[in-house]
Amino acid sequence: MNVIVVKDYQEMSEKAFEIVLKLITEKNNAVLGLATGSSPVGLYQLMVKDHQQNHTSYQDIVTFNLDEYIGLDKHHPQTYYTFMHQNLFDHIDIKPENVHIPNGSASDIEAEAKAYEAALNQAQLDFQLLGIGSNGHIGFNEPYTPFDSVTGVVNLTERTIKDNARFFDNDINKVPTQAISMGIASIMKAKKILVLASGLKKADAIYGMVHGKVDESLPASILQNHNDVTVIIDEQAASKLK
Ligand code: GLP
Repeated sequence: MNVIVVKDYQEMSEKAFEIVLKLITEKNNAVLGLATGSSPVGLYQLMVKDHQQNHTSYQDIVTFNLDEYIGLDKHHPQTYYTFMHQNLFDHIDIKPENVHIPNGSASDIEAEAKAYEAALNQAQLDFQLLGIGSNGHIGFNEPYTPFDSVTGVVNLTERTIKDNARFFDNDINKVPTQAISMGIASIMKAKKILVLASGLKKADAIYGMVHGKVDESLPASILQNHNDVTVIIDEQAASKLK
């Protein structure tokens, strides 16, 4: 694991952008696994700015998002579909047919998960961007998700529901309790992985991911077994590291 500690969120976003830009410059049809949450927003802003100013093209880029809530209408303001379009896709020249986000309102959710996993395997991720939950989850793979899991339906833990209530009028009753998520094995197949985290709230999870035992109690610890992981974290998220 290559751990890079930076001053703050802005610097984290800039370093992440350098990595993404290099990747898409070298391979203009790269397959990118993308993430939601507050961690990647700064990176997406830099990608949009660069596209507008320098015309970096996403014409042949293919994307797969990690996860989506189950039970919300696609256009609900808090779906990851809406998030990705507002923060990135609406502002770059990516082709709509190249964008993949699990459909959390599909009538047959299990079939949707299976089809998503099959599409992922066919496309093969060059890169996967990850945030990390305060309990060490990646995607929506909560603690004790088997390391060999593939895309499927997952239950959110109370802690994640609480963490995400801020996006749902601070009302835990409005937060969906299930999601469709890429599995841990699906994520591990990506050739290159980039983890972003900032803030004290992430310090314990980051410690476990970097120094802890590789154990299903902390899903992100599996990343120790991947041969190309870069972690960019601010000083607060890094505060418990040795
Ligand atoms: C959510 C997402 C994760 C994300 C995590 C951290 O639960 N499903 O993919 O990494 O939150 O979010 P944030 O970056 O806002 O701290």
